[in-house]
Amino acid sequence: MKIQENISLGQYTTFQIGGPARFFCNVTTEDELAQAVKFGKKNRLRFFILGGGSNVLISDEGYPGLVIKIELKGVEYKKKGSAVIVSAAAGELWDELVASAVERGLYGIENLSAIPGTVGAAPVQNIGAYGMDVSSSVYKVRAFDRKTMKYVELSNEECCFAYRDSLFLQDRRRYIITRVDFKLTTKGKVNIKYKDVAAYFASRKPPMSEPTLSDVRDAVIDIRWNKLPDWKKWGTAGSFFKNPLVSGRKFKQLQKKYPGIVGYPEPDGRVKVALGWVLDNICEVKGLCHDGAAVYEKQALVIVAKPGAKAGEVVNLAKELMKRVKEKTGIQITGEVEWVN
Ligand code: EPU
Repeated sequence: MKIQENISLGQYTTFQIGGPARFFCNVTTEDELAQAVKFGKKNRLRFFILGGGSNVLISDEGYPGLVIKIELKGVEYKKKGSAVIVSAAAGELWDELVASAVERGLYGIENLSAIPGTVGAAPVQNIGAYGMDVSSSVYKVRAFDRKTMKYVELSNEECCFAYRDSLFLQDRRRYIITRVDFKLTTKGKVNIKYKDVAAYFASRKPPMSEPTLSDVRDAVIDIRWNKLPDWKKWGTAGSFFKNPLVSGRKFKQLQKKYPGIVGYPEPDGRVKVALGWVLDNICEVKGLCHDGAAVYEKQALVIVAKPGAKAGEVVNLAKELMKRVKEKTGIQITGEVEWVN
């Protein structure tokens, strides 16, 4: 394992933004990862784990510590009754895993098609889209525990999953994921209830009432392609903020004031507010830009950056959006993208 110095980080992120890392290393095995962590500890460095770089915004000044890029590879499939345990190394590309699961007729992650990033990052923020969260198919997670300096295996329950949240965010920096096992099934049913997905199949000619697994993957790719920016053209990290959770009472108040507001009831009585709707219809932010950073024209929850844009420009725009939402609704929104500085 080679520790490099002063490596520019922008090239490793989908925002294409960020100054240099003081120290940088690629790890391809669990041993190398343990060595890298030891190097960081010995030199009292802060450290940061980089996967696909699709959910981070790195400061223009860069990162003063050690950046560890996870390059562990390999996928295994093991049959377990009608289920299949898919064991994938953290550095595998998420969408390649989804594609091969769908090809093998395995249900459970198809609605999460075309999400950029790596397998190891998927449980961290419990990626979700089109009515499916990855937490519903995670079987166990293998990770390096920096507290004990040993590898551990965590069950689904131990991962404490919630909406865009998990143990790996709650106990930040303690665990470094090296492998994720998913429990998928050959005897599943497609989930096409999400508004956009249902509308997609209803609008086919003739309408499709029983889409297959690969029809669902194709539909999701198509929907994302039409709603989310092209990562090759724009710097972006997808949704910049989380959809906020508010009490049922607060949601009713908002509904009175803004009758069209979209919200999704949670099992605990709270309501997850569609922030994209709020930003678009109440705060009227579409078209807003700060130098090289702009609100994406087709999805107000997404910030895009023009080539050459600075992290500071994105941050200024994000602050403006936070201020507007607070003024109009009283809600303090939080970032979904990780700010690294
Ligand atoms: N809406 C608007 N205007 C907008 C954007 C949205 O009116 O500019 C409305 C939509 O019409 C819809 C509602 O708001 O009624 C929700 O919008 P959408 O279905 O696009 O989903 P979202 O809540 O904005 C979440 C995820 C996305 C994921 C989609 C689809 C979060 C923070 N974001 O977005 O995930 O793709 O659902 O399932 O939960 C990501 O995390 O980077 C990401 C793209």
